[in-house]
Amino acid sequence: KYKACIFDLDGVIVDTAVYHYKAWKRLANEMGFDFTEHQNEQLKGVSRMASLELILGWGQVTGATEAEKEEMATRKNLWYTDMINQMTPDEILSGAEEFVQACRDAGIKTAIGSASKNTPIILAKLQLTQLFDAIVDGNSVSKAKPNPEVFLKGAEALGVEPAECVVFEDAVAGVEAALNAGMKAVGIGSPKMLTEADVVVSGLDKFSLEMLEEL
Ligand code: G6P
Ligand code: MG
Repeated sequence: KYKACIFDLDGVIVDTAVYHYKAWKRLANEMGFDFTEHQNEQLKGVSRMASLELILGWGQVTGATEAEKEEMATRKNLWYTDMINQMTPDEILSGAEEFVQACRDAGIKTAIGSASKNTPIILAKLQLTQLFDAIVDGNSVSKAKPNPEVFLKGAEALGVEPAECVVFEDAVAGVEAALNAGMKAVGIGSPKMLTEADVVVSGLDKFSLEMLEEL
């Protein structure tokens, strides 16, 4: 029934949230404030510059120029990529590689739909690049989730209709983006958070092709 599965990267295939948190926290600390891991939840699926705006708001930092904000985001990203560069395939989330491979074996096309500009390096470190027929990421989209652009571009790259796609997402904005694209949404995480998703599981190790058919 479904011809393609489109996967968010951070929080679905790999857990990079802790690295984002460490790097943003270091930036905040250098500016003299802190924020919690709970607040960090709000940054999931949110683009780099939008994340910075939220963090500056938490620290009540006002009046930074665009150039200063660019510099802050660049500084954070250098710390982040230092950590990302140490990643190994061990960090692939449980069941993720197996499920994507099962899709391929069943003739279902696969794509990544992520807001991250670091997608190519992360996939390379995890040795997963070859597992996806298309990769749409923060380097090729301009409208952030919940705008459906990233997933619509994924469907287009795969040559399928949006209604033939199922999206796997851990972020509320990502689930919304999938629904806005006219696709089914499988939430990865807590049903309490991802209330709009068609079904929610704790991880791809808890999902199967049988469940895909039932959506
Ligand atoms: C994903 C993550 C966000 C991150 C965004 C941009 O959506 O969930 O936490 O801010 O990608 O990532 P980037 O690697 O481009 O800074
Ligand atoms: Mg995510």
